[in-house]
This record gives sequence, structure tokens and C-alpha cells, in this order.
Amino acid sequence: MNPSTNVDLSPFNTLALPGRAARYQKITAPEQLSSAELVGEKRFILGGGSNLVLTGDFDGLLLHMAIPGKRLLKEDAEAWFIEAGAGENWHDFVQWTLSQGWPGLENLSLIPGTVGAAPIQNIGAYGLEVGECLQSVTAWDFDKNTFVSFGRDDCRFAYRDSLFKQQGWHLNGRIAITSVVFRLPKAWQPNIRYADLAQELAAHQIATPSARDIAAAIIAVRQRKLPDPVVTPNAGSFFHNPVVEATQAATLATDYPALPRYPQPDGRVKLAAGWLIEQAGWKGKALGPVGMYEKQALVLVNHGGATGADVKRTMAAVQAAVREKFGVDLTPEPIFL
Ligand code: FAD
Ligand code: EPU
Repeated sequence: MNPSTNVDLSPFNTLALPGRAARYQKITAPEQLSSAELVGEKRFILGGGSNLVLTGDFDGLLLHMAIPGKRLLKEDAEAWFIEAGAGENWHDFVQWTLSQGWPGLENLSLIPGTVGAAPIQNIGAYGLEVGECLQSVTAWDFDKNTFVSFGRDDCRFAYRDSLFKQQGWHLNGRIAITSVVFRLPKAWQPNIRYADLAQELAAHQIATPSARDIAAAIIAVRQRKLPDPVVTPNAGSFFHNPVVEATQAATLATDYPALPRYPQPDGRVKLAAGWLIEQAGWKGKALGPVGMYEKQALVLVNHGGATGADVKRTMAAVQAAVREKFGVDLTPEPIFL
């Protein structure tokens, strides 16, 4: 173990924000995490940097998770169990499972980042959340100085949330996820409830899609709507879709009948943050170098040369505009470092 010093982090975050790490270590094997040199220092665990706002320099040790590997762990009559290293690219991993004939993750195609980060915010898209397909998570616990394992129920998955986002877990660098096991049922059913996905398949006259048809449709929809971080730096949706009480949703719908509303199992109602931001006048609008994307108002983009402070300024302006017009608070989705 020989961490590098004063490392530029701008290539390692998809918002392309500037910042340097006092110490930086790439992790390519789980055993490296038990090295005595990594103990006791302020830490941050980095994957692909696609859900990250770098607010400046980091004065601790940054561990860049690059553990490779993917394999069929076992199969039984009902399911395939697939294990992948935390550093595997998420999209490549999903496409690999499909090419092996193991469907189930296709709705999560083209989400940037790594396998190890997927459980952190329980990544979700087009009617599926990763927690639904996850069997277990293995991680190094720096407090206990040992590897720990979490079953699906331990992970307490919810919308863009998990145990790992709670105080005391990964945010202070306590745990580094090293591998994840997925359970993909053999009794596969296409999941095409999401309107955009159904429309894309219908446009191609695909009535009974295969998992690969669904992946292709999702890739096409995402490429149309979302900016490619390589061309226009961004971190995907910048805010959660807010979940409000049914009474508040009903009052808002009286004033704004077009407001998209998604009833939740607990009786509350999820609203579309992109719609609220667009109606508040922020679609395609910028403050300095940071604005909201012209084709999807929920995506904050760096038009060039932005810093973390510029991101925070635009974020606050958008939150204030939505609060003023609708009385709804927007919570940012990315992690701030
Ligand atoms: P990072 O940004 O590196 O890290 C995110 C958080 O996870 C940090 O707190 C970090 O400390 C922690 N972390 C990362 N790896 C580990 C590990 N091995 N162990 C412990 N902690 C770790 N998200 C969705 O849910 N749905 C989408 O549809 C979606 N679309 C997107 C589209 C675009 C264009 C972009 C840029 C982002 C999108 N995202 C989406 C957000 C992002 O892709 C996910 O949050 C992804 O899981 C982040 O992975 P990462 O490896 O880049 O994590
Ligand atoms: N909308 C607008 N204007 C906009 C953007 C959206 O009116 O500028 C409306 C749409 O017309 C639609 C609704 O808002 O009625 C929802 O939009 P969309 O289907 O594009 O999805 P989203 O709610 O904006 C969420 C996730 C995405 C995920 C997609 C597909 C969150 C915070 N975002 O976006 O996840 O890919 O659904 O499932 O839940 C991410 O987390 O980074 C991310 C990209």
C-alpha cells in the first residue's frame, strides 16, 4: 500500500468539478482494505463518481473502488445467483448478465457507476429498483476491522435509500462494499409498466419483448433524454422526486391539474421534481456555469468550468423557486464531499 498524494479528482467525477485528494489509493482486491495503513484516517469511498458533488479539496484518504470480477455463484431450480466485484462497471455488468441468458436487470441498463455503489442509494429506473434483485452485500467494516455481510432485508432498501445512507455507515467511510450477489429468478416476466418504455417498444412494434429488447428500448429512451456526462457533465437526477402527504398532493392538483402524481403504498404521493422545476421556470436556465438541462429539468449540468460552489448556488436557487411556487422542498440526490 502506497497511497498517492495530492491527486486531481476532476477526472473521477461526472460533474467534472475540481478538487484534489490529500491521499489516494486504488483498491483492486478486498484484502487491501485490511491494510494497517488505511486505519484511523478520515476516508471517502469512491466508485465511478456519478452521484457526487465535489465541493473542494478532500484532506483525507480517498479509496477508489476498482475490485473486478463477475461469475455465476450458483443456481437452483428457481434462480441464478450472480456475484460481481464492487469495481465492475454497472452497465457492462448488466449487459453481460443478459448475454449469458440471465434476465432481470435489463430495466437498469445504462445507469452510470459501479456495482458497489448500486446498493448505496438503491438505484432505480423504469419500474425497477436494484434492491428487488439483490441477494447480499459484502463489505469491509473499518470500525469492526472485518468483512461483514448484509442480506437483502438488512439493507433496508427504500426509494433512493438504504441502510448504507444512514448516519454512521458509509458516509464517514466506515464501510467499503467489496462485492454484491444478485438473485435473478428463472421465471422471468417483462417489466414494461413505465409509460416511456411501453411507448418505445410500441413504436418498434414489439408486443412480446425479450430482456434484450427491453434493454435496447431503455438505452434508446435514456440516450434521448439524458445528457452524456462525457459531453455535458452531470450527475443524473439532481433531486429526489418528493413524496408528500396525500392532502398536499390533492391541494396542489387543484391548482395544477397537470401535475404528475404517483400514489405510494403508504398512502403518500410522489411528485415529479422535473415537472416542478420546469414549471418554476428552470428548464434550460442557468446561473453562471451551472444550469438545469434543457431536455430534462431534473438534471443539473456543468456548462464548463464550474466549481462545487457554483453547483450549490444553482441548487439553492432551484430549491427556492420550487418552494416559493409549490411549497415543496427538494432534497438533493448526490452525495456532497
Ligand atoms: P459514486 O458517485 O462514486 O458514489 C456514490 C456514493 O456511493 C458515495 O457516497 C460513495 O461514497 C458511495 N460508494 C460508492 N462505491 C462504494 C463502495 N464500493 N462501498 C461503499 N460506498 C460506496 N441513479 C439511479 O438510481 N437511477 C438512474 O436512472 C440514474 N441515472 C443516471 C444518469 C446519469 C447520466 C448519471 C450521471 C447518473 C445517474 N444516476 C442514476 C446516479 C448514479 O449513476 C448512481 O447513483 C450510481 O449508483 C453511482 O455509482 P458510482 O459508482 O458512480 O458512485
Ligand atoms: N417532467 C417534466 N419536465 C421535465 C422532466 C420531467 O415535466 O423537464 C415530467 C415528465 O413529463 C414525466 C415526469 O416528470 O411526467 C417524470 O419524468 P421522467 O420519466 O423523465 O423521470 P424522472 O422522475 O424525472 C426518474 C428517476 C431517474 C430515472 C427515471 C426513469 C428520480 C430522482 N429520478 O426521473 O433516475 O432514470 O425516473 O425511471 O427518481 C437518477 O436517479 O439519477 C435518475 C436519472
